[in-house]
Amino acid sequence: MKLQVLHVSKQFDERVAALSDVSFSVGEGEFVSVIGPSGAGKTTLIRILNGSEPCDGGEVLLSGQHLESARGRKKAEIQKGVGTIYQDFALVENVSVLQNVLNAALPDMAFLPAVLGLFGRARRETAAALLARVGLADKLEEPVKNLSGGQKQRVAIARALMRRPEILLADEPVASLDPVTGRQILTLLRDLQQKDGLTIVMNSHNLALSKEFSDRLIGLNRGRLVYDGPVGEASAEVIDTIYAAAEEAQV
Ligand SMILES: Nc1ncnc2c1ncn2[C@@H]1O[C@H](COP(=O)(O)OP(=O)(O)OP(=O)(O)O)[C@@H](O)[C@H]1O
Ligand SMILES: [Mg+2]
Repeated sequence: MKLQVLHVSKQFDERVAALSDVSFSVGEGEFVSVIGPSGAGKTTLIRILNGSEPCDGGEVLLSGQHLESARGRKKAEIQKGVGTIYQDFALVENVSVLQNVLNAALPDMAFLPAVLGLFGRARRETAAALLARVGLADKLEEPVKNLSGGQKQRVAIARALMRRPEILLADEPVASLDPVTGRQILTLLRDLQQKDGLTIVMNSHNLALSKEFSDRLIGLNRGRLVYDGPVGEASAEVIDTIYAAAEEAQV
């Protein structure tokens, strides 16, 4: 699924332009990191890309289809192609690992089976296979609250994959993990990219990890795109511009 972001702007109030005229595209199977200082607009961008926040101007196209103007079932269908994982995992702590992954199927189910939690054998097998894929085959019945941070992020990844997305958005997926666990999670994401063809757009505060695991960097500063290019071409000067303090940012 190709992602195109065209002249996207977002203003929360008169003073703060969270995003200003941001344009870039991400090809199928790419791993892109969005970097920039705190408040640059990274989370806002991800929320717009997964349809949870509208933008004020511009448009987002997923496989050539407009996310902004789509409504109802059509919008749900486009959004289904986009999965998201978060820094804080956003799981239901008191229920099992398997149940957390199965819950991702609820929007696709008819009312009664959904209410009764009748997921059926095929969905259970899919969820179990995804949990095996992320290395949690032996934790299916474990309540999420008993897991480590890295294991929780693996559950969140399996949950996102349950809806068969083509793009995975990750908002600082390893920011709350120790360095070793963080690398393991990024290795898993890269594996999903390289072996399963998943497209990945990741927000990150860790420049070294972004450079190591992604193909391309997108630099945001004060809501403006200040860099879009291969990791290898992001010179020290470029990095300085991306992270420049608000008052000295050059765009
Ligand atoms: N719901 C909101 N209401 C008002 N302002 C908001 C809202 N969400 C974000 N903003 C503002 O938009 C700007 C961009 O915020 P955003 O969270 O996208 O930054 P970020 O790059 O993700 O920062 P961080 O690295 O700290 O997570 C900030 O100035 C922020 O205060
Ligand atoms: Mg953020």
